[in-house]
Amino acid sequence: MALNPPLNRKLRMGLVGGGPGSLIGPVHGIAAEFEHRCTMVAGAFSSNPERSRQAAPSYGVDESRTYGSYEALLDGESRLPEGERIDFLSIATPNHTHFEIAKAAVEAGFNVVCDKPLTLDLAEAEALLETVENSDVVFALTHNYTGYPMIRQAREMIQAGEFGKINATRCQYIQGWLADTSEDDNGTLAAWRTDPAKSGAAGTFGDIATHAFQLGRYVTGALPESVSCHLKTFVPGRQLDDYGTAVIRYQEGALGIVTASQVTHGRENDLELEVDGTLGSLKWRQESPNELVVRRKGQPHQIYTRSPGTGTMTPLAEASSRLPAGHPEGFYEAFANLYNAVFDDIARRASGSPFERRDTVYPNVYDGVEGMMFIEQCVASSESDAAWMPLSYPAARQ
Ligand code: NAI
Repeated sequence: MALNPPLNRKLRMGLVGGGPGSLIGPVHGIAAEFEHRCTMVAGAFSSNPERSRQAAPSYGVDESRTYGSYEALLDGESRLPEGERIDFLSIATPNHTHFEIAKAAVEAGFNVVCDKPLTLDLAEAEALLETVENSDVVFALTHNYTGYPMIRQAREMIQAGEFGKINATRCQYIQGWLADTSEDDNGTLAAWRTDPAKSGAAGTFGDIATHAFQLGRYVTGALPESVSCHLKTFVPGRQLDDYGTAVIRYQEGALGIVTASQVTHGRENDLELEVDGTLGSLKWRQESPNELVVRRKGQPHQIYTRSPGTGTMTPLAEASSRLPAGHPEGFYEAFANLYNAVFDDIARRASGSPFERRDTVYPNVYDGVEGMMFIEQCVASSESDAAWMPLSYPAARQ
């Protein structure tokens, strides 16, 4: 079979971020290479050139393609012949750097896979959207939970009308790692996340509530109308929220709740989604990602499992599975599913074929702007005693 048809070759990846001790950069490397459709060939793994060089061997990146800054990477790669330079750049740096790196990469003509949240604030996100719209690049945003097969199953079952009209969504992301440790104890991970200059206007709500909000949007397709939010900071001295709840009114009449915490003792990465419809309801948890609980009106409860080949999975969910039922698939596989769909579009662009830019399988720059609007309006609402704030975004995906 051709690799990345019609290119018939592996794609070449560049990574910004992912230096020694970092969290998500190494995940990008593993997920992108999961299906052997790409090889990482270049990186600016840290803003410190020495630390960037330290990280390179663990990614198998040659010294000649290891750069001390993203500017040097874009400059160096742009000078290479077309058959050698990177096909896409993944960005896994703290939030305040996303805008400048992504904008420069898009302007240099490189496809981009950017981690969330899209930027530091909404103004940057809108400016980046304009840059992307004025280009022909593929632009993806790694809200990676949308890559889980049973999340895609839920989306396709809802789209097929199996749950009737959607009345409500409840989505929560509950962690405990910032409960009682000081920012210093958690090293770089906590230091930038709790600093408004690097994290943005929100802490926990920018870091993980955005995942929860976007997951509800992706699964139901419901379009937000307005939001009322309460944010709290429970750890003394912290500058940003570490807990909060938002109530969302959707344009079609549904009501949503997003709750996020990073201060709930003992909770790990407990992302949970429930959806109520007029014909039934569903529940999914990322800590048991291979199961989808479905409760249909007047019927016994059902647990759908990730079980390719059995005829119980929807097409996209089936295509997003690798192993037979019962062998657990998880975080890396879901992340890799985003990359797979991105690679299809990168190959289309490279061969001059048209590709979708807004209603993509993977989250994209439009989802990113909507996520930034969610963060800003939640903060504004919370500062006004939970007053309702508009949350409709004209360019949102359906
Ligand atoms: P981290 O602090 O663990 O790592 C960031 C890395 O970027 C470090 O190696 C640092 O040296 C490097 N870096 C910082 N500025 C740089 C620059 N200008 N040029 C090159 N390298 C630079 O942070 P973490 O947790 O990996 O988060 C990175 C981003 O990914 C954040 O935007 C975060 O919100 C997002 N994230 C997404 C997750 C997901 O599930 N999709 C999970 C964790 C983080």
